Amino acid sequence: MKQIAVITGASSGLGAGYARFLDDEGLYELWLVARRKERLEKLAESLKTPCKCLPLDLISRSALDNLQGILKEECLAEDTRITYLVNAAGFGCIGLSRECPRERLQQMVDLNCRAALAVTEMCIPYMGKGSHVLQIASCSAFQPIPNLAVYAASKAFLLSYSRALSVELNDLGISVTAVCPFWIKDTEFVTKARETDKHGAYFDMPGAANVKKVVEKSMAAAKSGTVVCTPDPVSSIHRVLASLLPHRLLARMCK
Ligand SMILES: NC(=O)c1ccc[n+]([C@@H]2O[C@H](COP(=O)([O-])OP(=O)(O)OC[C@H]3O[C@@H](n4cnc5c(N)ncnc54)[C@H](OP(=O)(O)O)[C@@H]3O)[C@@H](O)[C@H]2O)c1
Repeated sequence: MKQIAVITGASSGLGAGYARFLDDEGLYELWLVARRKERLEKLAESLKTPCKCLPLDLISRSALDNLQGILKEECLAEDTRITYLVNAAGFGCIGLSRECPRERLQQMVDLNCRAALAVTEMCIPYMGKGSHVLQIASCSAFQPIPNLAVYAASKAFLLSYSRALSVELNDLGISVTAVCPFWIKDTEFVTKARETDKHGAYFDMPGAANVKKVVEKSMAAAKSGTVVCTPDPVSSIHRVLASLLPHRLLARMCK
């Protein structure tokens, strides 16, 4: 049985971090998915494990069909098992929803929700006992957040979906972990998310995490079967507060 990992968003930040971590797991192959081909190839060159670079725009339905076709061909024909699926492709827009381009907001839902769901469902048939799904959500999934309204809602979808899926897949021995970090400083996420921030809603917050810590903690959580992983102190406190306080109050405090 050939064991592989499928990692979306592998060209940067957390996705690249998971690829580096999984490079030491003795897998047969890592499948690296994102739009920027050169980045994927550069990462692949730096890893010991053979990699399949798949430059795909996961917002596009034809790219998702393409991925489904490759999975079908390789996994059925070659007796290949997906041992890890990491859905890290995603982006956010900081700012008032009414001031963000509507197309961008819709693309956010397309990538953070629809693509994550599609990739998960197409991989599950090739997973089995001991396989792990990691959905990279965010602690913004715990409550509604003004100036991150659509992003937080997209991550709430991913959290709820992951929680239910973990129960559905329990008898197959497949674990599902929703990873819910606070801000992470060493990725491209914040720089891109701030492009829509017209009123300085974002400011450098203390307690930001880093890729290495988030990857290590969440991989340990996935291996131990944890369903919701808060990999840093701020996200852990946030989860508790969001379970105790009214969400309207928390939303007003965030604003
Ligand atoms: N950084 C944070 O503060 C933070 C906090 C909590 C949660 N998260 C979540 O963590 C995940 C990873 O983000 P990150 O911080 O590592 O940010 P990042 O460095 O910007 O990485 C995002 C990844 O998504 C890929 N991507 C974007 N659009 C895509 C598309 N249409 N099709 C395929 N791939 C696409 C990007 O690659 P290409 O541009 O090459 O396509 C890149 O590899 C995201 O889901 C994010 O919501 C981040």
